[in-house]
Amino acid sequence: MSKENIAVGMEIGTSKVCVAVADIRPDGSLKVLGVGQSPTLGVRKGEIVHLESVHKCVRDAVAEAEQKSDVSIRSVYVGITGGHIVSFNNRGVVQLPEDRDEIDEEDLEEVKRNARDVNIPAQNAFLHAIIQHYYVDGQDGVLTPVGMLGNKLEADYHIVHGIRTRVQNTIRCVKEVPLEVEDVVLNSLASAQVVVSQNQKNLGVLVVDIGGGTMDYVVYVEGAIKQSGVLAIGGDHLTNDISMGLRIPIGRAERLKIEEGSAVLGNCLPGETLYLPPEQGFAGREIERETLNGIIHFRLREAFELLKRQLEAEPFLRYLGAGAVLTGGCSLIHGINHLAEEVLGLPVQPAQPPPMQGITSALANPQLSTALGLIKYAQFSQMERPAPSFWGRLKNRLFGGGKS
Ligand SMILES: Nc1ncnc2c1ncn2[C@@H]1O[C@H](COP(=O)(O)OP(=O)(O)OP(=O)(O)O)[C@@H](O)[C@H]1O
Ligand SMILES: [Mg+2]
Repeated sequence: MSKENIAVGMEIGTSKVCVAVADIRPDGSLKVLGVGQSPTLGVRKGEIVHLESVHKCVRDAVAEAEQKSDVSIRSVYVGITGGHIVSFNNRGVVQLPEDRDEIDEEDLEEVKRNARDVNIPAQNAFLHAIIQHYYVDGQDGVLTPVGMLGNKLEADYHIVHGIRTRVQNTIRCVKEVPLEVEDVVLNSLASAQVVVSQNQKNLGVLVVDIGGGTMDYVVYVEGAIKQSGVLAIGGDHLTNDISMGLRIPIGRAERLKIEEGSAVLGNCLPGETLYLPPEQGFAGREIERETLNGIIHFRLREAFELLKRQLEAEPFLRYLGAGAVLTGGCSLIHGINHLAEEVLGLPVQPAQPPPMQGITSALANPQLSTALGLIKYAQFSQMERPAPSFWGRLKNRLFGGGKS
């Protein structure tokens, strides 16, 4: 298979490293050829804390993905997350010289540079400057300003930045495999590529990817990204709470959460109990089902309340005509949609099936949204810029320039 047709997405998550390989076909459709996964060691709240352990997990996941897809992986698109990531909206303005009234590509680049010309902490690097809207001489709704006549070009951007060294650690981990890094992409942005449709983005939608250690979110209004962020809360916090609250080992708590847990209170018989049989290192015990569900419910409620407070810092909540969509492993908890609806005050819709073919079980698994979304992102990037140099782009972003 020719290498040009292959796109690979990699998420180095708190719970697992996931590598998804897809074929981008000439007609634009995507076929997932294989997925490799390895449980992660050395990642906390979405950030690498032990390079060597993560490196091994990355190699294992890559080896599995290569074997399953029968593709030799050379380069990947990598997801990024963590509490260090910050985003904001900003407008750039370009006044055309008096002797010219047709907007060209250079004006587009300049308006983006202007929008990014803001002080960010010295240790941070730009990750994304994502176009929201163009205005030509005050006229909004302009989709492609190049070639239009006008004197003033304005553009609103959603800008994302994060601590440079944290991003570099992720890149280093991948480069040591050795693999090339095509691009580094915000996890929530990647997931949104596959769990919501363009129509939902146009109507206004909140996408929340709840993994093991982070809650990554992105808000679309009128098809444009208006807000994004990361909360350092995920399914592992539920597991820890269950383990501490019920005084059972972490591994048992994790299984209990997945097999029996629910975010809904008052849904079981009064006094209903669950028997946990003894196993190595655990004497076995009986627990009340409502106690288990209460632990899950209150921790998740707290997380959604925190998310709501962050969302309320901007005025976009009331424009979300398509409600919210949850993905990530933690979205599998029974009753979580109901709780999210109650706290966020938005209808929660199921994720749309990823616009891809191939391994059905992978496509249906919300834990893979980020890795699959990275493939979709790769496809868009390739369509936009047919032959960009990956290293040039990354170097720009991390050591000076920026990124779209
Ligand atoms: N069926 C299930 N029910 C409830 N929770 C689940 C289920 N399956 C997985 N999880 C939880 O999902 C979490 C892992 O999700 P995911 O694989 O999306 O995380 P990650 O991408 O590795 O982490 P992050 O994105 O936060 O860095 C774990 O906390 C796990 O317990
Ligand atoms: Mg994740």
